[in-house]
Amino acid sequence: MEVLDTSEAMTAWAAARRGRVRVGLVPTMGFLHAGHASLLDLLRPRCEALVVSIYVNPLQFGAGEDLDRYPRDLEGDLALCAAHGADAVFTPASLYPPGHATRVRVEGLTEGLCGASRPVHFEGVTTVVARLFGLVGCDVAAFGEKDFQQLQVLRRMTADLALPVEIVGGPIVRDADGLALSSRNAYLDPAQRARALSLSRALRALQDAVVAGEHDVAALTALGRGLLDVDALDYLEVVDPQTLRPVARVDGEARALVAASLGATRLIDNVALAAAP
Ligand code: PAF
Repeated sequence: MEVLDTSEAMTAWAAARRGRVRVGLVPTMGFLHAGHASLLDLLRPRCEALVVSIYVNPLQFGAGEDLDRYPRDLEGDLALCAAHGADAVFTPASLYPPGHATRVRVEGLTEGLCGASRPVHFEGVTTVVARLFGLVGCDVAAFGEKDFQQLQVLRRMTADLALPVEIVGGPIVRDADGLALSSRNAYLDPAQRARALSLSRALRALQDAVVAGEHDVAALTALGRGLLDVDALDYLEVVDPQTLRPVARVDGEARALVAASLGATRLIDNVALAAAP
């Protein structure tokens, strides 16, 4: 496994492979866990050369967010990448060239949910992912469904810009007790971690309620809100999975998404809801 720490090294590695082998990319911000490992496992059989990028992208953090304390563990990350078959790990200290002045912005899909409370976030994500696609020249890239809005925004960007990259979404990986894996779980103290379980419990209750025949979204979100034990609820919404627009009833496919804070830690989670035909 090669470790490439500059954009030039990444470009040279990619140039030697582009058009010859199918290249897969798992973009990450490091502090890797089993959720990231599942994305490597998902792509490994779909490509001949597998790259993981590790870069804490300042552009996607707003003022007062956790850029300065985002957890890091390069040694552990490299071990996980090697164990899950990565051929190269891209670990640039800085990613943007001098004079960088381009921003990629997807409209519509970025306006609600996390976009409403994190106004610069998705522009930062799409800008960095577009640059990573350019540097790595990947044919396929994987992103976790835990960041469901991010996944849909990146699908839109890739289609709109005709980028020749297949986007693959990986299912959410959870701890045995239901907590969705996230690098930010490291911030939680034991009491907060116990309360954080209320996110997945509330979402599961929504799923069960839909299966039991409750299709009215106002009733579903009232149920979910009653089960959440958080310091601040950002949103609990049921949306159309393609448009991310709120729906009033769960008639076909829908997605329930939640974002909430425990102390200074903001957590997100989501589940698919499907009304019985
Ligand atoms: O999901 C993440 O870890 C980040 O938003 C991503 C896609 C690596 C871009 O920095």
